[in-house]
Amino acid sequence: MPAITETQILEALGNVMEPDLKKDLVSLNMVKDIHIGTDNAISLSVELTTPACPMKDHIRNACVAAIREHLPEAGEITVNLPAKVTSGSSCGGHGEKDNPLPNVRNIIAVGSGKGGVGKSTVAVNLAVSLAGTGAKIGLIDADLYGPSIPTMFGLENKRPEVRNKSLIPIEKYGVKLMSIGFLIESDNPVIWRGPMASSAIKQFITEVAWGELDYLIFDLPPGTGDIQLTLVQMLPVNGAVIVTTPQDVALSDVAKAVTMFRKVNVPLLGLIENMSHYLLPDGTKDYIFGKGGGEKFAKAQGITLLGSIPIGGMVREGGDSGKPVVVEFPESEAADAINKSASEVARQISINNAAACACKAGQ
Ligand SMILES: Nc1ncnc2c1ncn2[C@@H]1O[C@H](COP(=O)(O)OP(=O)(O)OP(=O)(O)O)[C@@H](O)[C@H]1O
Ligand SMILES: [Mg+2]
Repeated sequence: MPAITETQILEALGNVMEPDLKKDLVSLNMVKDIHIGTDNAISLSVELTTPACPMKDHIRNACVAAIREHLPEAGEITVNLPAKVTSGSSCGGHGEKDNPLPNVRNIIAVGSGKGGVGKSTVAVNLAVSLAGTGAKIGLIDADLYGPSIPTMFGLENKRPEVRNKSLIPIEKYGVKLMSIGFLIESDNPVIWRGPMASSAIKQFITEVAWGELDYLIFDLPPGTGDIQLTLVQMLPVNGAVIVTTPQDVALSDVAKAVTMFRKVNVPLLGLIENMSHYLLPDGTKDYIFGKGGGEKFAKAQGITLLGSIPIGGMVREGGDSGKPVVVEFPESEAADAINKSASEVARQISINNAAACACKAGQ
């Protein structure tokens, strides 16, 4: 049996396209660690741009198929899929020299013009879902007026440690957390004036030992005020995830948030329609707040519909009990919808980062 060479394997894999980045895996320099063993057994790694890549199976199958087609003498084929999360700012896509968090690869804002649509629920579950894929995640509760992260993680009475003048984030379900709720008594209503709110958010960014993170998620308060502006002024935000419920009333408010992010040049990663339907025991869907509102809105705004999360007791219970639905009920329809949405968020960021790098390279 003729021995296979590394060059032949690379030639074969040059026919496999990365479905989102629209180039082949070899040109993208994603193929690593090729080993050829006895009986032409082949093992190799394809380094993904996020561990939450929704195309993992597709890429693995396409690699095996390409090698089998071009090298029929190949033995067993093993394709490993490690991930190294990319960052738009590492390519100069943002002003990295002024970035106070150079070790954070990507910053995601979860917001909506409207209150009570499930921003915090979505932010928490996205964070836990991405952490579950192996990504390093931080979550900042930027809702100073109504912090909900401590409750949603079951950490109501926790206080962060201070080390070397930095607050140490509290960690749960693989997510590093910071919230004003960890620093004040829960029955003490916070009355912030605009500049105080901005300075609290600045402290969460600069005086917390975040370390190295793949994604830092901000759970924003409702509206389009000081906190949102402070965030985009201080940090190179990679993208915003807009949360809405399907009702038209909600949507008109949500449009204001979309406009705000556009005005301040934050890319819109897409829309998550929360409480999209209720799943009846017989498996049919009851669209209690109207059908297709999110899809219509996304189309009208020219943004991607990242996912639709059903309304359900398990989601609410997860928030109240401090055990997010993706942890407590991982097999549920809601957890599945959230995991898919999280993969879509990571995917959109990878696509944007690749475009930023290509743009920089072409300058
Ligand atoms: N898909 C869902 N199914 C059932 N309950 C949900 C769902 N999404 C959110 N909820 C519940 O709705 C309430 C509001 O959700 P959440 O606090 O996440 O909204 P919010 O947009 O962050 O609100 P605020 O504007 O006050 O910050 C919570 O009690 C939460 O558990
Ligand atoms: Mg909230």
